[in-house]
Amino acid sequence: MFGKKDHLTVERGRLHISGADTVALAQEFGTPLYVTSEERLRQNFRAYDAFSSADKYFAVKANGNLALLRILAQEGAGADVFSAGELYLASLAGIPRDKILFNGNSKRESELVMAAASGVRVSVDSPEELETLARAAQSLDRTVEVLFRVNPDINVQTHPKIATGLRTSKFGIPHSQVVDVYRQAMASSHILPVGLHCHIGSQILDVSSFVEAAGRMMDLAAAVTSADGSVEMIDLGGGLGIQYDPQAQPAPSPADLAAGVLPVIRQRSAQIGISPRLVLEPGRSIVADSTILLTRVNTVKDAHVTFVGLDAGFNVLARPMLYDSYHHIVACDRADQPAAGSYTVVGPICESGDVLARDRLLPPVQRGDVLAFLDAGAYGFSMSSQYNGQGRPAEVLVAKDGGAELIRRAEGPSDLMAGQMIPSRLLY
Ligand code: LLP
Repeated sequence: MFGKKDHLTVERGRLHISGADTVALAQEFGTPLYVTSEERLRQNFRAYDAFSSADKYFAVKANGNLALLRILAQEGAGADVFSAGELYLASLAGIPRDKILFNGNSKRESELVMAAASGVRVSVDSPEELETLARAAQSLDRTVEVLFRVNPDINVQTHPKIATGLRTSKFGIPHSQVVDVYRQAMASSHILPVGLHCHIGSQILDVSSFVEAAGRMMDLAAAVTSADGSVEMIDLGGGLGIQYDPQAQPAPSPADLAAGVLPVIRQRSAQIGISPRLVLEPGRSIVADSTILLTRVNTVKDAHVTFVGLDAGFNVLARPMLYDSYHHIVACDRADQPAAGSYTVVGPICESGDVLARDRLLPPVQRGDVLAFLDAGAYGFSMSSQYNGQGRPAEVLVAKDGGAELIRRAEGPSDLMAGQMIPSRLLY
């Protein structure tokens, strides 16, 4: 019914996730509620076995829930972290340090010191950052292994806000400068350059863009090798898209990606005479479809269009507002009924842009109904906010047997006050 999502089923008209009834989950835990299928998460990670010996560093920015990170750690995942906070989460989840890459285009000096002290690899984004990291490593008397984030100058078909490998993008070192920076690193006593890194963007549905990026990276690997640099790792980043709209074309699978990319890496490595370890940094393709967002209908209003007002808006799921993203919506207790009307689905936030779906065909919707947004596991909770005095929602994990456990409590008013202080002079 929902394409290849076999963790989502409809029983007696009701949407279930891994056997758990979504209406009952909404009742028990309250809404809005992120609900993750543990089994689906594990399956998605295992789909990357198509890359055999490659290391899979989960992109923690997609979902930083500790229980989910712990599951991925059990599956053997490494981590792409983009801040000291994400490094902390990945470490707490038990992801080994030698499988963590510290990324970022504008790292604080304190983050570079922390990365050097903790022994993770760093993806260096500029020559200037290399110098700062070298000083940090020297002061700690540690040697830091680095990769260089390359700007590969590749055009991809995705939303412009998430295309990261364009020549004009803020990320990475222009590829014409990479050999020089590599040399600079080779001359530095506390830095060990071990490889090259790129990430061309996110929600990419065309494997040929990744193949092009792999070719570009191997060109650079050849140039670095000729300059006596040692290329032990090639990190192609993440970016594989998923099929959000059941009517759209199916997305390529990790196996399709492997079939495109691996021959390029293998052939070119053999030509150059190197045998680099391949690293990938998938986020969305691992976690997005493992998770649904349950929301409750607060109001239905016939106006210029029929508005369905939910208890979740862009404070909970920012993607539609930011990128005009499509998330499929299911009426949880009428999941087998045909569409009866067209609705514009909005949140409770005080902005007219707080629209989660326009003119969506759904079965009849009433106050009190539970609606599910599918594919909400990537950049869902992780991009949520407390805007408009709304606490962030709870998260629940559903095990293989359908049992549901709370993995993050919902925030309440005291969370809105957390960290705030009223100067005593204002009290009297
Ligand atoms: N590696 C690096 C260096 C990245 O910057 C990213 C994502 C990834 C890996 C993971 O990419 P994925 O496999 O998830 O596509 N908030 C946006 C997506 C932003 C992606 C940022 N970087 C969205 O909701 O679509």
